[in-house]
Amino acid sequence: MAPERGPVRCRGMHLQTRRLQLRPIEMTDIDEVAALLGNPEVSRYLGDGQPRPRERVELGLRNGRRMWNERGFGPFYAAGDSCFIGIGLLMPIAHTGIDATDLDARGPEIEIGYWIARSAWGQGFATEIGNAVLDWAMGPDGPGLDRLIAVTHPDNAASQRVLEKIGMARVGETDAYYGSTTVLYEYGPA
Ligand SMILES: CC(C)(COP(=O)(O)OP(=O)(O)OC[C@H]1O[C@@H](n2cnc3c(N)ncnc32)[C@H](O)[C@@H]1OP(=O)(O)O)[C@@H](O)C(=O)NCCC(=O)NCCS
Repeated sequence: MAPERGPVRCRGMHLQTRRLQLRPIEMTDIDEVAALLGNPEVSRYLGDGQPRPRERVELGLRNGRRMWNERGFGPFYAAGDSCFIGIGLLMPIAHTGIDATDLDARGPEIEIGYWIARSAWGQGFATEIGNAVLDWAMGPDGPGLDRLIAVTHPDNAASQRVLEKIGMARVGETDAYYGSTTVLYEYGPA
């Protein structure tokens, strides 16, 4: 078992890993998330590859809050020693052909993902967040999901490595999501 897995202590929707505290995202996190996704190195393999404008980030946070309110899961904000580390995502995926910002059009499959602050890359944080979110989402303390999927840009080798480290199985390339070619991973029954 990877050292980043470790035991996850859980108080409702607050998760404690070896180095991080995770909690549901809030609208007041907008400055940190906008700075994260405004970094071209972070956005390189996301969506259209361009830094994400603040208005789009705000819409994403609104959708994330709706998920928490209506379905009891959604994006997590992760911090270590009070310092923002990144986001652990749990959202319905956007199939090709829909407007990805339209929450009601997304799904039904639930996607796991992670965005880590550039200064914190290479320290196992995505793996630590991914393990905690996956275990919570599929375990007795969370929403009890029985299947998760993830997609990455074909060139996003670091993300693919993280998905393998958290135990997800590579399915192959697909054009089914986000209007582009991605590599699909899954966890749970196909
Ligand atoms: C991809 C990302 C999440 C990785 O975060 P991280 O905290 O650095 O990841 P970890 O340290 O947990 O693990 C990274 C793994 O990828 C490996 N890796 C890093 N760069 C790599 C590369 N170019 N090629 C192959 N493997 C690579 C690391 O060696 C490590 O594997 P190891 O533990 O076996 O050595 C981070 O770079 C990020 O946020 N990128 C921008 C957003 C993004 O692309 N998110 C994923 C969307 S699908």
